[in-house]
Amino acid sequence: TIYLGTFVHSKSLSELEICDQGAIGVDSAGVIKFVERDVVRVEDVKAKHWEWKDAEVVRVEDGFFFPGFIDTHTHASQHANTGLFGKTTLLSWLSTYTFPMEASLESLTKALTIYTNFVSRTLSHGTTTCAYYGTIHRFSTNLLADICLERGQRALVGRVCMDTDLSPEYYRDTSVESAIEESAASIDYIRSIDPEGAIVRPIITPRFAPSCSASCLAALGALAQETAAHIQTHISENKPEIELVASLFPASTSYADVYDTAGLLTPRTILAHAVHLTPAEVQLVAARGAKISHCPASNTALTSGCAPVRDLLNAGIAVGLGTDVSGGFSPSILEECRQAIWVSRFVAMASSDAAKLSTEEALYLATRGGAAVVGLESKVGGFDVGMEFDAQMVRLGSVSEGGDQKGEFEAGPVDVFGFETTDEKVQKWVYSGDDRNTVAVWVRGRLVHRTGRYVK
Ligand code: GUN
Ligand code: FE
Repeated sequence: TIYLGTFVHSKSLSELEICDQGAIGVDSAGVIKFVERDVVRVEDVKAKHWEWKDAEVVRVEDGFFFPGFIDTHTHASQHANTGLFGKTTLLSWLSTYTFPMEASLESLTKALTIYTNFVSRTLSHGTTTCAYYGTIHRFSTNLLADICLERGQRALVGRVCMDTDLSPEYYRDTSVESAIEESAASIDYIRSIDPEGAIVRPIITPRFAPSCSASCLAALGALAQETAAHIQTHISENKPEIELVASLFPASTSYADVYDTAGLLTPRTILAHAVHLTPAEVQLVAARGAKISHCPASNTALTSGCAPVRDLLNAGIAVGLGTDVSGGFSPSILEECRQAIWVSRFVAMASSDAAKLSTEEALYLATRGGAAVVGLESKVGGFDVGMEFDAQMVRLGSVSEGGDQKGEFEAGPVDVFGFETTDEKVQKWVYSGDDRNTVAVWVRGRLVHRTGRYVK
């Protein structure tokens, strides 16, 4: 397939490449074989790449191709609670909203409904790769992996571990042994359905330090080493949580040290939040090569704080964006781009302008940055030859003026008038676009979502 027209992707943290006359050649395995940048006619592309003379052509009009988004942290199991958080903060939110909802997903029929819906929902927002938390239930979690594989969404899927009395009796692991057994069985299952890990991969998931005993954390560290699986957890999200960790692990020098002691800080580790890390912890995370998922909507919703993303980037840490549903109120990484930009401005107002993230930087975090966080930086996140084609077709439009509600809905929320540069269109999309603008989505060249506005 030849994808023809404007494409936009990150060249570096601060720079987008905007190519208005592009052609991206994608083979039947979904691999990008060529990228042409000054295309006048598709016939010229086919003449140059003669083996592609019968290739299908997918053209984008009034918009652009953009790499698929990467959500580096979300809870599929909390999707039904999206928007429900009231005035709670982290620890009260967990007991009020989260634990009861997650516990109910022991029901495979309920899990099937909610997980199928969430995978469809995130795909519709252009998310082509997602790092998911399931629940402590092995079979429901495995079902989430089945759904991702069937729908073609790249995913890391984790069975949650938690064995302390922070979690209610009705929803916790009953022993370290059973937590490890269930986790290992889930890893084996996920590897059995996708042996190459091309679409779905397992991820070891200690919920966070307060809900895991030291021996549970250490056993999960050992399991990670044994299986070479990824690891995800939460770190330093809010202040009472940090105080709780200090009291639960008095021998540790810091929150990050608790994980390090357990062998959980590795280059395959995704740490969500990292809002209040000390400079020493930032150095430790960087030294271990662990990655960070920045979840700005969640951090504001639960009043956790404003993560100092610039400092994390300056320390050399790979940072991506996470929706953190349902601490976060939106399944959209485009929304997280906006939220990351806003939060960085609040950090800037309390410190210096250097903290501000640009639109380009937010889009980098949403794509190439996220790819590095989930260990796929050589495969996805941009339109480079040799990468796999994970992409969304973005179309812009204008509100219909005759009260034609259907047209208004389909055109999406971004008004463009025809005189904007592509760069201006991208800025407008980031600040006011939504899923109505994402009219088609591909993973590895497979069309995994489309709307009525998708025309080839
Ligand atoms: N810390 C422990 N569990 C959770 C969770 O489910 N969401 C968030 N945001 N933080 C957590
Ligand atoms: Fe979370």
